[in-house]
Amino acid sequence: MRLSVIGCGYLGAVHAAAMASIGHEVVGIDVDPRKIESLSRGEAPFFEPDLQELLTAGVASGRLRFTTDMAAASGSSVHFIGVGTPQQKDGYAADLTYVNAAVDALLPYLRPGDIVAGKSTVPVGTAAELAPRIEATGATLVWNPEFLREGWAVQDTIDPDRLVVGVSSRSFLARSTTGDEAHAADILREVYHPAVAKGTPFIVTDWATAELVKVAANAFLATKISFINAMAEIAEVTGADVTQLADAIGHDARIGRRFLGAGIGFGGGCLPKDIRAFSARAEELGRGESVTFLREVDAINLRRRERAVQLVVDALGGQVFEKKVTVLGAAFKPYSDDIRDSPALDVAVRLRGLGASITVTDPAAIDNARRLHPQLDYVEDRDEAIRGADAIVLVTEWDEYRRELTPEHASTLTSGRVVVDGRNGWDAAAWRAAGWTYYGMGRP
Ligand code: UDX
Repeated sequence: MRLSVIGCGYLGAVHAAAMASIGHEVVGIDVDPRKIESLSRGEAPFFEPDLQELLTAGVASGRLRFTTDMAAASGSSVHFIGVGTPQQKDGYAADLTYVNAAVDALLPYLRPGDIVAGKSTVPVGTAAELAPRIEATGATLVWNPEFLREGWAVQDTIDPDRLVVGVSSRSFLARSTTGDEAHAADILREVYHPAVAKGTPFIVTDWATAELVKVAANAFLATKISFINAMAEIAEVTGADVTQLADAIGHDARIGRRFLGAGIGFGGGCLPKDIRAFSARAEELGRGESVTFLREVDAINLRRRERAVQLVVDALGGQVFEKKVTVLGAAFKPYSDDIRDSPALDVAVRLRGLGASITVTDPAAIDNARRLHPQLDYVEDRDEAIRGADAIVLVTEWDEYRRELTPEHASTLTSGRVVVDGRNGWDAAAWRAAGWTYYGMGRP
């Protein structure tokens, strides 16, 4: 099939490359010429495992190309909208500027029978608002939310755990999905043929449900993380160990152990802004109280960053002025170079604000971090970064820190003997046995 993907960021670039890899002819369109130049050369403009290989193969095959020219969308049967929906500068709501601009720019190139498939995370009601403009061209609008996790984006796109397609609410409610909408759902089945063939759940619903599925999923995940971080706060005043608590409750299949990792909390380009946008939208709908708990989820999450900073201060005897602190990690999570709302960088910046001399290291995110926070010192080599540190703080659990850095090796790099484990990723007993003072999050 011929597909266009509008927006070539973390979502769109991966989607375009993944769709080409399963046999489609794809054009990726973005307004940023630098991104397009890099993608056209087959070079990933950001770090995402396996993306580079897919891009190289896709561009070489001739099935994948990139351009800034929206006219290239003509002739595609499906146009995916994968532009960003960041938090508004002066509030919690999502900024839909890019979605509206993408749709307006696409309108002249739509033909009757085309499908516009929204993938961006949007406030519920957005599809209904966009639809009249799109339908006036004879095209059909569906909402097809994306659930990819950075670091696993290629795998999540090619082999998702579910596919959700929202079609026009009017026809869905009238159960008349035999017309254009049923056709649209079938076309999407064809787009995702390998996943559909292996029996991946394919849920056809109305626009509002499809939009809500995405924000509800992220709200649930954020709540799960903040729940365990709230337990960490209680553990801290009672001497309990939150990691054992998580293991124990996680054995209950109804609860499950995943996303019960207590630490400095969640960040990134999705969870924080999505729960805020959800609160804002619920307020607009007169149902603010239904999701008041998301304010708590956000507040708990932000408190954990402060807690990590406080642990470092306490560990260094009450003040960090001119103390050398090595911060392991800048990305908001491992296997990503994304620093949007990164708890790791936030901790580094706060410590620096208290006068500490901060050295940040990260296997992938240093360039991005330096652009945003040029005031911090960055060292690429892990061991070089640790040399002479008074304290080491683990904030992003990359393998080369969490698994590969042993206390014995760290002891050869510095005479400082303090580690603060912001991700509860290390074996506390092993560090203590090697003579280090170990501080975890919600652990004695
Ligand atoms: C998230 C959703 O998982 C994904 O389905 C959605 O499409 C986009 O948003 P992502 O932002 O890539 O994906 O990261 P995710 O793996 O969810 O992690 C988010 C944050 O939570 C990271 O900062 C991570 O470190 C943190 N986290 C995760 C925890 O603090 N504890 C956990 O147990 C799990």
